[in-house]
Amino acid sequence: MGLISSTPMLEKARSEGFGIVAFNVHSLDMIYAVVEAADEVKAPVILQTTVGSVKSLGAENIVAAAEKASNQYNVPVALHLDHCTEYSVIVQCIRAGYTSVMIDASMHPFEENVRKTNQVMEIAKHLDINVEAELGKVGGVEDDIVVSDEDAQKAVPAECVEFIKRTKVPTLAPAIGTAHGIYKGEPDIDFIRIQEIAHLVEVPLVLHGGSAIPDEDVKRCVSLGMAKMNVSTELKNAYSAAIRNHFIETPEALDPRQYLSKAKNAAKDLAQSKITLVGCAGKATEIQEYEKEKHSNPIMAN
Ligand code: 13P
Repeated sequence: MGLISSTPMLEKARSEGFGIVAFNVHSLDMIYAVVEAADEVKAPVILQTTVGSVKSLGAENIVAAAEKASNQYNVPVALHLDHCTEYSVIVQCIRAGYTSVMIDASMHPFEENVRKTNQVMEIAKHLDINVEAELGKVGGVEDDIVVSDEDAQKAVPAECVEFIKRTKVPTLAPAIGTAHGIYKGEPDIDFIRIQEIAHLVEVPLVLHGGSAIPDEDVKRCVSLGMAKMNVSTELKNAYSAAIRNHFIETPEALDPRQYLSKAKNAAKDLAQSKITLVGCAGKATEIQEYEKEKHSNPIMAN
């Protein structure tokens, strides 16, 4: 069906209490691993890339591959730009065909975060694309963005209300104790804070740092309003471990098709387990119908 905005799928997920996984992808195999995993369980899915991947692969190439995969399989697929601090890269990706973008101005004071988010909203409101912004600061490492444990900051619920009021951003990532990368100990998730924020704002919330969170905690976050869960590290680990094992078993191997197909299968299994965990298996048709209805009804579209 081609790439669609992530807005309708996330709205539906938030209102019905299930989640949608956004996987960070870095290659053609990873794009296909994720879309095929979603297709096998008839789930909506979000492909996302970091700015680093946009710079190394090229926005047009990523869009072409994601578009092709989404046309080959009959499930709703969105393409999202993760953690972008550069306005010019956001514009480049929107022009190339991304259907969702994150403006990450969380490292700036509140007023500057509002201003930078509004700058992106100014373009997005004329187009059928989703915008995500972050409040508080998610710890850990994602691409070139490094936030130490000391600098990580949880989102303030009253600021979330003010932020949504002043930006009208359709998706919000409040920092609530998770971190990017693999945890040194157990993640310290502030469930009370998620509940407070979800009670105050209606927009779908985004759980960053979705790797290595215990399953029961993921389900609790989703049930409280975290409609999008980002997974990067665990997918990369599954993909890379398969390649590493291939070379341990056969150090002289040189046919990329052999180790890349193992990597793809490992990534696909991981993607399917996360998709099933957040409860969106079987939701593809419902989302497709909601998306069509939204497009045919101008009141719903605004
Ligand atoms: P993980 O690397 O912890 O899965 O986090 C991914 C993420 O939040 C991307 O924005």
